[in-house]
Amino acid sequence: MARSLTILGATGSIGRSTADVVLAQREKFQVEAVVGGRNAQALAETAKRLGARFAALADESAGPDLRQALGGTGIACGAGRSAVLEAVDRPADVVLAAISGTAGLEPTHAALKSGRRIALANKESLVCAGSAFMADARRLGVEITPVDSEHNALDHALSAGRNRDVEKAVITASGGPFRTWSRDQIEKADAKQASAHPVWSMGSKINIDSATLMNKGLELIEAHHLFDLEAERLDVLVHPEAIVHGLVQWTDGAVTAGLALPDMKVPIANALHDGVRLFMDLPRLDLAAIGRLTFERADEARFPCLTLAKAALQAGGAMPTILNAANEIAVEAYMAGEIGFYAISEIVETVCSTSSAGGKAPATVPDALAIDGEARALARRLVPAKRI
Ligand SMILES: NC(=O)c1ccc[n+]([C@@H]2O[C@H](COP(=O)([O-])OP(=O)(O)OC[C@H]3O[C@@H](n4cnc5c(N)ncnc54)[C@H](OP(=O)(O)O)[C@@H]3O)[C@@H](O)[C@H]2O)c1
Repeated sequence: MARSLTILGATGSIGRSTADVVLAQREKFQVEAVVGGRNAQALAETAKRLGARFAALADESAGPDLRQALGGTGIACGAGRSAVLEAVDRPADVVLAAISGTAGLEPTHAALKSGRRIALANKESLVCAGSAFMADARRLGVEITPVDSEHNALDHALSAGRNRDVEKAVITASGGPFRTWSRDQIEKADAKQASAHPVWSMGSKINIDSATLMNKGLELIEAHHLFDLEAERLDVLVHPEAIVHGLVQWTDGAVTAGLALPDMKVPIANALHDGVRLFMDLPRLDLAAIGRLTFERADEARFPCLTLAKAALQAGGAMPTILNAANEIAVEAYMAGEIGFYAISEIVETVCSTSSAGGKAPATVPDALAIDGEARALARRLVPAKRI
């Protein structure tokens, strides 16, 4: 029987790859709803291509455009917060959560509260409100399957043994566009250069997070919540070929790793089928043709965001929420050409060290969003002083 599916962030990079998976396995899915931010034309096209029953845009002002673009198709639609929440409330076997940034938290959490199985790409949900989110998932018996290629690989690798026998779980990083650049060169790099990722084609925010390596830091925090592994048992390894995505080193010295060509359709298809592997007509990994896989340590002197994220994970409490919020504001300012590359880490560091919210991890999603709001306000106040 076809699985019913709702896609949050349907017009983005992950959303488009999800659409490709759905179309490649047409008989396996019925798309219930698609959700986007503000691009009415793109969402309408996606809804039509996928035969969705409902389309929702977060931006209320784009509602008339969406209605017009879907006129005569029979696809119901709405715009604004209530329309997004209606989309996640509609019956679906699985909700693919791929809105970018903390904007994804409320709809993803609403889907979880409705008991929907979650295929999770939106790592910021877990970084901002991981304890509350996972506690609700456990209480409601909701399964979360990771879409991030590293976490999807770890999910499978971890099933080879027991949690207590894990010595280290390692996620890999391609190293981003600045892996071989000097600090002086990186300092002068603009957002266009930072967005030129050597391996993955992604949305704008995650592109910058990959260039600063904050993305890897956010992923460590995500892994901590998903797999119940403390900071000491999590690590990052730079692997430019992006073939090995996650490795688990066991207490007997054995290592279990997850490998695949770098194509998000692989983990997406896997997550949409609850971790079950179904045929995908994609190129196969040919290790002999690749010949060499290389690995190196991350250089935290050039990529201080990774150090900051590790420190936030280690500190726990509200620190990951604060780090994530400050990072979103700093990345926005960098993308707007207002601040330089290293001002991102400087703003994040200042907000983390001066925020008064520290303390306990937010127990609920609204608590997390309140802390997130305070940290954003603090970060916004720091931007003018860093202006270039
Ligand atoms: N791209 C990857 O390869 C990759 C890999 C692993 C994990 N992820 C994670 O997946 C998430 C999405 O990444 P992405 O690269 O797909 O981002 P993206 O290309 O920027 O797409 C973001 C999507 O979210 C929608 N959106 C933005 N704000 C919204 C809001 N307030 N309410 C509802 N929808 C909103 C956008 O719609 P509009 O276009 O209309 O604004 C778009 O559909 C991120 O959390 C990222 O870290 C991505």
